[in-house]
Amino acid sequence: MGGDEEIAAAEEEEEKMVKIGAYGGRVRMVSSLEDGAAEEMLLLWGIQQPTLSKPNTFVSQSSLQLGLDACGRSLSILQSPCSLGTPGVTGAVLWDSGVVLGKFVEHAVESGMMVLRGKKVVELGSGCGLVGCIAALLGAEVILTDLPDRLRLLKKNIETNLDGDFRGSAAVNELIWGEELDTKLIEPLPDYVLCSDVIYSEGAVMDLLATLRELCGTQTTVILAGELRNDSVLEYFLESASKEFIVGRVDQGQWHPDYCSPRVVIYVLVKR
Ligand SMILES: C[S@@+](CC[C@H](N)C(=O)[O-])C[C@H]1O[C@@H](n2cnc3c(N)ncnc32)[C@H](O)[C@@H]1O
Repeated sequence: MGGDEEIAAAEEEEEKMVKIGAYGGRVRMVSSLEDGAAEEMLLLWGIQQPTLSKPNTFVSQSSLQLGLDACGRSLSILQSPCSLGTPGVTGAVLWDSGVVLGKFVEHAVESGMMVLRGKKVVELGSGCGLVGCIAALLGAEVILTDLPDRLRLLKKNIETNLDGDFRGSAAVNELIWGEELDTKLIEPLPDYVLCSDVIYSEGAVMDLLATLRELCGTQTTVILAGELRNDSVLEYFLESASKEFIVGRVDQGQWHPDYCSPRVVIYVLVKR
């Protein structure tokens, strides 16, 4: 490529970097055109080569508790490793993208890219609740949600980690994707929706999107961390989501420097 072509290519790349929603950093737009999601998969798998690195770098799913420092505290997240063997139960242990998202949010607030103090946050598929706990410690009014039979561990983790003085608040509510939402989740609509590792089953994509559609106004910013396991499920999600949401990928230079992983991706979504 000659000098002029290189400059043109760099300018074209620069044009794809935009600021969307309430996240202050610039993100790389995922095109809503027919091949946009497929092109994103090629780029992601080409740049990050997720299959060449180990899964679960930041978590040990066989331990009963996982320690993590965040927001000036030593958090202790309880897990139930035995439940992982139960078909359909995935949230009884932590996943890398939850740790990455929690530390990303902390880093974004500390570096002035996000304001969570006093903001309403709904977390989807909270699992053990790490991300929601971090958001509450950063001052947000958080509602952590999951399937009805997944809430006991979630409540225990909130009690264990959110004792004493902290700025925000945390409540737990059941939420099944695709089903009618409790009014306290949508009145008022949240400022942020956070979710990690919620895109892994093609059958759940449309229900998840239906919930995002209900939960989001144009002022709501979704921050979603995903694990790069299955390109076709992620492609299906992006293809469907980009019809209704502007979608941008946050490059790893903006993540918490100690919590980056080639197997994880972070997107920001805002309703069109
Ligand atoms: C892979 S786990 C991720 C848990 C947590 N976010 C993390 O990153 O550690 C997926 C989570 O989504 C929840 N989930 C799956 N299907 C759901 C549905 N249809 N409605 C609500 N939550 C669901 C699971 O119960 C689980 O907590």
